Amino acid sequence: MDIIISGTSRGIGFATAAAALQHGRHRVLGLSRSTDGIEALNDIAEKAKHGSTFHHLEADLGEENYAAALKRLLDVMNFRPEILINNAGVLVKKNFEDFNKSDFEYTFRMNFWATFFLIQNVQPHMPKGSHIVNISSMGGYQGSAKFNGLSMYAAAKAAIANLSESLAEELKDQKINVNALCPGAVQTEMLAEAFPGFKAPVTPDEMGQFIFNFALESGKIMNGKVIPLSLSNP
Ligand SMILES: NC(=O)c1ccc[n+]([C@@H]2O[C@H](COP(=O)([O-])OP(=O)(O)OC[C@H]3O[C@@H](n4cnc5c(N)ncnc54)[C@H](OP(=O)(O)O)[C@@H]3O)[C@@H](O)[C@H]2O)c1
Repeated sequence: MDIIISGTSRGIGFATAAAALQHGRHRVLGLSRSTDGIEALNDIAEKAKHGSTFHHLEADLGEENYAAALKRLLDVMNFRPEILINNAGVLVKKNFEDFNKSDFEYTFRMNFWATFFLIQNVQPHMPKGSHIVNISSMGGYQGSAKFNGLSMYAAAKAAIANLSESLAEELKDQKINVNALCPGAVQTEMLAEAFPGFKAPVTPDEMGQFIFNFALESGKIMNGKVIPLSLSNP
């Protein structure tokens, strides 16, 4: 199976790509701005039991100019992604009164805009029966506990959840299912930067394995769902 995952250079995206490669018989295309993680993912692919391969495109998903290179790569490789996992994202944490327009532009561009246009760029290459999984956040899940400093991030993640519901309807005729996952705290560099000293109850490997399994299996029975992945209430 061909799989595209954004944000594979570290954290949850890296772990999701590793889970896909270990599962075997997949071509995984990772997208990120840095080349971090490529060597390790190639290593995992080589050691995978059933022969997987990792491919990478250096791309800033917040800019438009990666689209032509991505299309070329998909065409040359005859890459027909049955799974697209929109994982890349950024977190800006500030008190409400300190946010400025450039924080807004950055937060929404790197989270919502990047997800929206990656789907638009990849969807024409996806065969019927494909599954798009968008990584939102518990912060973007309606009715969840909220945290100081995350108003802009949480709103961008809520937009991703809503987009998933809308696209589930709009891509129905192409038989592409779209769901959103809303992770709670996962012990990654993003979390450590935003909440120094906080110990998350979930590791990137645990979350990556869950996301990959979900992407592989749940597209057959779910569409337009926004799913909270949380150990606490609300
Ligand atoms: N960790 C948590 O507790 C948590 C909870 C809920 C939701 N999430 C969500 O889960 C996803 C992964 O989070 P994480 O904790 O693993 O974050 P992370 O460690 O900061 O990793 C983010 C990944 O996204 C990539 N990325 C960011 N901006 C990009 C851009 N413009 N173009 C291409 N790639 C870009 C980064 O690669 P480069 O820097 O190399 O581009 C990196 O690989 C995010 O969407 C995050 O919002 C995380």
